[in-house]
Amino acid sequence: MINLRAAEFGDIEALILLLAELFAIEADFQVDSKKQRAGLELLLNSDDGQIFVAQNEVGQIVGMCSVQILISTAEGAKVGLLEDLIVSATYRGQGIGKQLLQHLERWAQQQGLTRLQLLADKHNQPALDFYAQQDWQTTQLIALRKS
Ligand SMILES: CC(C)(COP(=O)(O)OP(=O)(O)OC[C@H]1O[C@@H](n2cnc3c(N)ncnc32)[C@H](O)[C@@H]1OP(=O)(O)O)[C@@H](O)C(=O)NCCC(=O)NCCS
Repeated sequence: MINLRAAEFGDIEALILLLAELFAIEADFQVDSKKQRAGLELLLNSDDGQIFVAQNEVGQIVGMCSVQILISTAEGAKVGLLEDLIVSATYRGQGIGKQLLQHLERWAQQQGLTRLQLLADKHNQPALDFYAQQDWQTTQLIALRKS
């Protein structure tokens, strides 16, 4: 039995471990627990963001995802940026990722967000297949960044 809920400050240690598992897969990101802690604290303190966790029957956090609200002039409305979706390796393939995504999508709808978007590693085929299966469409956009 999986419980889905908003993350709390007491979850941060578990979330740092999940992000380390995620960033180890994604070539564009480095594992740095100090930065991940700071980012999680910023998100938890933000009115424009939300972290959701999946907790198993013994209280262990086995998955997470986050969403941040942006304003889209294209949409003329608020939209959401999905990030940090991860289910810990031994818990994959049990429907937890799908439940987390649906939970986040329901929240976004309640907030009046008209669209959700995300960035994915183009080599992460399992994740791309998962999103396609959940009716997410690819776009013509590419990601650029400057530090
Ligand atoms: C992507 C991820 C979150 C999916 O979570 P999961 O709990 O393993 O997925 P689920 O068990 O909820 O799968 C839901 C559905 O997607 C399908 N699916 C899951 N992984 C899939 C894959 N690699 N290819 C095709 N379909 C897939 C399942 O078959 C299932 O279909 P069903 O509803 O018809 O049964 C998880 O594999 C993960 O954490 N991966 C590593 C981190 C990552 O890449 N995150 C994305 C960063 S952009």
